[in-house]
Amino acid sequence: MKGIFITIEGPEGSGKTSLIKGLLPLLKEYFNISIMSTREPGGTFLAEKIRHIIFDLQSEKMDAKTESLLFAASRREHLVKKIFPALKKGRFVIADRFVDSSLAYQGVGQNLGIKTIATLNTFVTEGLKPDLTLYLDLKPKMGLARIKQNRANEVNRFDLSDLEFHQRVHKGYLEIAKENPKRVVVINAHQILAKVIKESFEVIVRRFPKRSFLEEK
Ligand code: TYD
Repeated sequence: MKGIFITIEGPEGSGKTSLIKGLLPLLKEYFNISIMSTREPGGTFLAEKIRHIIFDLQSEKMDAKTESLLFAASRREHLVKKIFPALKKGRFVIADRFVDSSLAYQGVGQNLGIKTIATLNTFVTEGLKPDLTLYLDLKPKMGLARIKQNRANEVNRFDLSDLEFHQRVHKGYLEIAKENPKRVVVINAHQILAKVIKESFEVIVRRFPKRSFLEEK
């Protein structure tokens, strides 16, 4: 794969989406290229359908392994139809959530084990790993408070689940960051958004110097 693949990860309310919105114009200007920003299900028909099943509030409580398989299936569709082709063309891709979400939420949050979920996802990704992951670190209590304040109509069943679950997810993310110190950079998401954007931009620019990017891609 010739392109650059960056993922943004973090717990509920950590501001991933706002960060990406803030980063895009900065990166476009700095690198002078178009950047593909995407998130699962990425507008792909099948992945949308699968996601709909996962988040259907009417559905009976889903078994954690079924849920892991559905997230993996949705991810596979998004990868094959959107991310792989873009990376093959040498594009700069930023994804809002990727495999680390499954490791943290299903692996640790749902107690299925990081290794098990990693194995399942290797089948999905064929070993593709992000070149860089920005992990927005935020205490679960703060994240849930932010969601209640800002997204009252958007509460999905994950947001509704208990604090202990979100504490496990948080622990999971910290473990992933510790195990992958080169790939994962931890950004303190308790800071104001402008600082989160500035720090993230600096990390990306340091990791992918403009000249090398333009020469290699
Ligand atoms: P998402 O649609 O990405 O929304 P947001 O990033 O705004 O939270 O994710 C919705 C929920 O799905 C969120 O609680 C995290 C959870 N999730 C998993 O449990 N496993 C996964 O693999 C992914 C991608 C998301």
